[in-house]
Amino acid sequence: MALSSHLLVLFLHLIPSVICQVTEFVSIDCGGTSNYTDPSTGLVWVSDTGFIRHGHSVDNKNPNGDSTQYKWTRDFPADRNKYCYTLSTTERRRYLVRATFQYGNSDSGDPFPNFQLYLDATMWSTITVLDASRVYVEEMIIRATSTSIDVCLCCASTGSPFISTLELRPLNLSMYATDYEDSFYLAVAARVNFGAPSKDPIRYPDDPYDRIWESDLDRRQNFLVGVAPGTERISTYKNINVRTREFPPVKVMQTAVVGTQGRLSYRLNLEGFPANARAYAYLAEIEDLSKNETRKFRLEQPQVPGYNNAIVNIAENANGSCTLYEPSYMNVSLDFVLSFSFVKTQDSTRGPLLNAIEISKYLQIIPKTESNDAMTLDAFRSMCRGSDWNHEEGDPCIPTQWEWVTCSSSSPPRITKLALSEKHLKGKIPDELKHLDGLTELWLDGNSLTGSIPDISNLLNLTIVHLENNRLTGPIPSYLGDFPSLRELYVQNNSLSGEIPPTLLTGKLVFNYDGNPELIQRVQHKKNFKLIFGTSIGVLVVFVVFILGGLLLFHNLWKKPSQEKSNDKCNSLSTTSKPSAAYSLVNGGSLMEEGPDVAYYITLSDLEEATQNFSRRIGKGSFGPVYYGKMKDGKEVAVKILANASSHGNQQFVNEVALLSRIHHRNLVPLVGCCEEAHQRILVYEYMHNGSLQEHIHDSVNQKHLDWLSRLSIAEDAAKGLEYLHTGCNPSIIHRDVKTSNILLDINMRAKVSDFGLSRQADENLTHVSSIVCGTVGYLDPEYYANQQLTEKSDVYSFGIVLLELISGRKPVSIEEYGSEWHIVHWARSLIRKGDVMSILDPSLAGNIKIESLWRIAEVAILSIEPHGACRPKMQEIVLAIQDAIRIEKGKQKNYTTCSRSWTRQSSHISLPSASLEIDSSDFSSGCSVPSAR
Ligand SMILES: *[C@@H]1O[C@H](CO)[C@@H](O)[C@H](O)[C@H]1NC(C)=O
Repeated sequence: MALSSHLLVLFLHLIPSVICQVTEFVSIDCGGTSNYTDPSTGLVWVSDTGFIRHGHSVDNKNPNGDSTQYKWTRDFPADRNKYCYTLSTTERRRYLVRATFQYGNSDSGDPFPNFQLYLDATMWSTITVLDASRVYVEEMIIRATSTSIDVCLCCASTGSPFISTLELRPLNLSMYATDYEDSFYLAVAARVNFGAPSKDPIRYPDDPYDRIWESDLDRRQNFLVGVAPGTERISTYKNINVRTREFPPVKVMQTAVVGTQGRLSYRLNLEGFPANARAYAYLAEIEDLSKNETRKFRLEQPQVPGYNNAIVNIAENANGSCTLYEPSYMNVSLDFVLSFSFVKTQDSTRGPLLNAIEISKYLQIIPKTESNDAMTLDAFRSMCRGSDWNHEEGDPCIPTQWEWVTCSSSSPPRITKLALSEKHLKGKIPDELKHLDGLTELWLDGNSLTGSIPDISNLLNLTIVHLENNRLTGPIPSYLGDFPSLRELYVQNNSLSGEIPPTLLTGKLVFNYDGNPELIQRVQHKKNFKLIFGTSIGVLVVFVVFILGGLLLFHNLWKKPSQEKSNDKCNSLSTTSKPSAAYSLVNGGSLMEEGPDVAYYITLSDLEEATQNFSRRIGKGSFGPVYYGKMKDGKEVAVKILANASSHGNQQFVNEVALLSRIHHRNLVPLVGCCEEAHQRILVYEYMHNGSLQEHIHDSVNQKHLDWLSRLSIAEDAAKGLEYLHTGCNPSIIHRDVKTSNILLDINMRAKVSDFGLSRQADENLTHVSSIVCGTVGYLDPEYYANQQLTEKSDVYSFGIVLLELISGRKPVSIEEYGSEWHIVHWARSLIRKGDVMSILDPSLAGNIKIESLWRIAEVAILSIEPHGACRPKMQEIVLAIQDAIRIEKGKQKNYTTCSRSWTRQSSHISLPSASLEIDSSDFSSGCSVPSAR
């Protein structure tokens, strides 16, 4: 009875706001074919056909649940363009913008999509699909800066961009107002309902603003773990007064967790962090406390200066029970892994209580293209609506620029080049052109432009102007001659008239004005004007008629096809010819592509001189001693003598010389020359001043300490060298002996991979090369060892060991360090699987490293040493992971550029479950281990 009356009150209370809200909601079912009302929410969904002309509707074979919204997605081409939805907004009003993505299509075998989401010019998020059945939700709270926003998809690194739904929810009053809203959006990272009755999220109609409140029972990977003992779930049917700032739904406030043993604690991952955040706790006393009972607690973790000592007493703070209290941190710096805990005070009788939290990341708003520039482009676009070149949406420059413009990299971007040659433009050149004062190149040739050249006297940066082959009339403006950087001016074949400004005829610039019969060239010396004019006029006329006649005839013949086209309707197909940048392709297949810089022959006597009779030994390579030398020209070299030239080394020598002399890459040690004399076989390499990575990590005598960023950059260099061997050479090359002593450091501490003595060119047609097992203990790929089939993935395994050495500072094999397991792999794998990455970290790095960056490397290292080669990433993926880690470490925004299905499905941040999943590395029969499995 009491219950139903409360519900009734609640119902009545909600109705009015529900009705006024819902009419303003925009709910787009992307790829959907019809409009409908979702029976479970009462929301009206509309198909996106009225919003977008691109992409196509795809049937989702495995839609999430039975929500109609996920039956279809809209897929876009994986090309250089961006694809945008434009949503109308009211300027200065705040909105919740939500985009959702459910891929579904898991059985096609294609890699899962990875692409970027933009809101106007601001990079919102990278969508990385790891689980086809999961609905990925991105929410952003914005204050609209104009009458519309663009939500754009672009820049796929794998798969193609797609979207399931797009929603716009207006907010009321001062909800979500922050002091920073002029320059920052709020990207929602977590919004959790504690003590939730089920795993289902709460949203509209319970939340009149249709925020999604995730249930604390929906434990995603490493989301809400580390729950303190004694945590209990409580709920009430009483109404809660939520009329404070953010109006959370009553239903969310009616449940909570309490720490009956005096403590509440949770740990969760915040995607896109570390960052500055706005964090809210929603607290409402929903237990009946007797008179002499109190609930007082404080925030113990994270450390927020000025907050940790503040004591929360909900009933007191909220002015009564069943009333909401919203302590908030408007700007707090949080890490990727957020551990938070509330503890009760000594004198409190009850433990802490928590109803909900909401954490959003401040995302800096990136300015759109200068508005005058954008307006000018619109003027050009309106000359030719509906034509092919005119289809691009969103901002002209960001994230990808329209095909017909070039932008500066300034912020905001400016248009520097307008490339509208042969685009069937008709009519006058828009006067707005004068606003593009960053313009350096103007290409309007080959259209049907009429009227006179507009005032462009302030476009002082122009260097190249193409106005030829139009129907322009009027004079050539004289100020053009004063433009400081103008180099080329083409106005031929128009109907320009008047005097040619003499400043254009000084020879400073390329100037073509042929085919404008009414143009007059002023003669320099006024006195002789009549004479010259008189005598030459006859000649001139004949000459001009001759030349022009010929030229025009020729020109007309030549121009015929395109002239005809420009008479077509505006929306006819554009010609294929367009100014385009040249693209160069990598991996052309030739090993010689980097130059014909082949090693040369050096005589033994020269080498004896260079090394002062082999007096300074600097190391021992895989097959012999290495000496320092200095050539006559001053070049410092490392001279490597092959120990037993007759047997094994023989083949290696031939291999190495043949290979190395053909391969040039910044991250491979260059071969200077070779020598074969008096039963000696000698290789001469460029000298690497800083020795090997091994010395830097393991030799205690070496005082130079490598910090984490240096280690990452060495790893990146070495990985790029290997990537080049694997993919830049055709046939590809497997190093076969990747280890820290084969990674050398030059004078600038740039790493280069050395010693291709064991390299063998992988056969083009085989995925593996079977051969005698070579390699170094500790780095040797167990799969290769077991079945002697060599692939690039064996190098990946060895490189994984190098990464573990870089993280831990430990040697790959050591009985003292790892006991009976003796190998770094078992030790590191079991700790990382337990989620304890700090325990493998080199103690000298502790405290100076971002844990997320460490995780990135630990993850990729663990995948690289997967027992099955097929489960290991490619070198390219490792390079990207390292670059990602570097970005994180440097504190830049996280920005995944790639991930391909082969390994990222198993990978996510700190996703390794605490219930560790031990896979014996000798168990080759099982499939790939999936660290994220529960
Ligand atoms: C938050 O505080 C930091 C450090 O005090 C400051 O740099 C930043 O601009 C503030 N605001 C936002 C939105 O990050």
